[in-house]
Amino acid sequence: QVADSLYILNNFAAKYFSEQLWNTDEGNNIALSYLEQRGFTKSILEKFQVGYSPNAYDAFTQAAINGQYNTDLLIKSGLTARNQHNDSLRDNYRGRIIFPVHNISGKVIGFGARVIGKAENTPKYINTPENEIYVKSKILYGTYFARQAIDKADECLLVEGYTDVVSLAQAGVENVVASGGTSLTTEQLRLIKKYTSNLTIIYDGDSAGVKAAMRGLDMALEEALNVRLVLIPDGEDPDSYVKKVGEKQFKKFIAEHKKDFILFEMEILLREAGNDIARKNDAVNKIAESISKINKAEDFTKQQEYIRQCASAMKIDEGGLTNLVNKYT
Ligand code: GTP
Ligand code: MN
Ligand code: MN
Ligand code: MN
Ligand code: MN
Repeated sequence: QVADSLYILNNFAAKYFSEQLWNTDEGNNIALSYLEQRGFTKSILEKFQVGYSPNAYDAFTQAAINGQYNTDLLIKSGLTARNQHNDSLRDNYRGRIIFPVHNISGKVIGFGARVIGKAENTPKYINTPENEIYVKSKILYGTYFARQAIDKADECLLVEGYTDVVSLAQAGVENVVASGGTSLTTEQLRLIKKYTSNLTIIYDGDSAGVKAAMRGLDMALEEALNVRLVLIPDGEDPDSYVKKVGEKQFKKFIAEHKKDFILFEMEILLREAGNDIARKNDAVNKIAESISKINKAEDFTKQQEYIRQCASAMKIDEGGLTNLVNKYT
């Protein structure tokens, strides 16, 4: 009941924000011009139903109240917030670009709202709070638009942000979803697994991004996903990088820099360990644990192959590594 009301309200809001972007002077001059200056085309913005929340105290909230939506629902949806000081209702996303978030059947379940320009004294993005239909741990932004392309390519690309998804889709790379910069959950991995077993994580090279991805590796292996990683050059993200080098170069870069994630993790751990035997021992254990997550019954050959390659690269005995892997299984 509440869920149905939320769907209806979100649909109303997405239409309202879209109307504001395309058909008002403020939307055109402030939001559309910003998006076009960033290189987004009108047609990709329309496809993703990007919108604009005007920079007015309660313009949306009043429109919704006029449309008979009740205030408890408005607050639950996150579209409206209550002013702590005087109890008045205000628009939560005012003056921001709106990225609607769709569920896999295309219904709007929430929003990501980005400030225009640099974020000063305010978060860059505001997202919908958890409610009956917006459950962060189960959502990957862009799944609705990407699902057919994922199925066709038999590969899902995972990026961090909204603009990465939109930008890559604009460049013709449509099998892309975004995690919102947080660690992946089992539910999100299962969502991907519905469409493909091949997950390619495309993150920026800064250690925060990679460490976050590593935390999700064993979980992804447990879900029987083949995980690959592409590191985007430092200071870039997929959006900025594709715009910098162009579509063709970007695709070439991805193809040439795709690494197997287990082997990548091993390289990193070995490099960090250097000549320290205790740390190398930790690294070997960590890799054995990762390899153990590959379901032996289903993917025996794959597991064997990793044991072979890792034992050789780490200069340890293959039988020893096998025993260690079995210990973790
Ligand atoms: P642009 O700067 O517009 O290109 O966005 P971006 O996606 O590159 O932003 P960034 O790399 O900083 O963050 C990646 C993702 O993390 C975003 O798309 C959001 O989903 C999320 N995120 C970033 N900043 C915030 C924030 O201030 N609050 C919250 N809740 N999420 C954020
Ligand atoms: Mn398929
Ligand atoms: Mn980063
Ligand atoms: Mn980014
Ligand atoms: Mn970006």
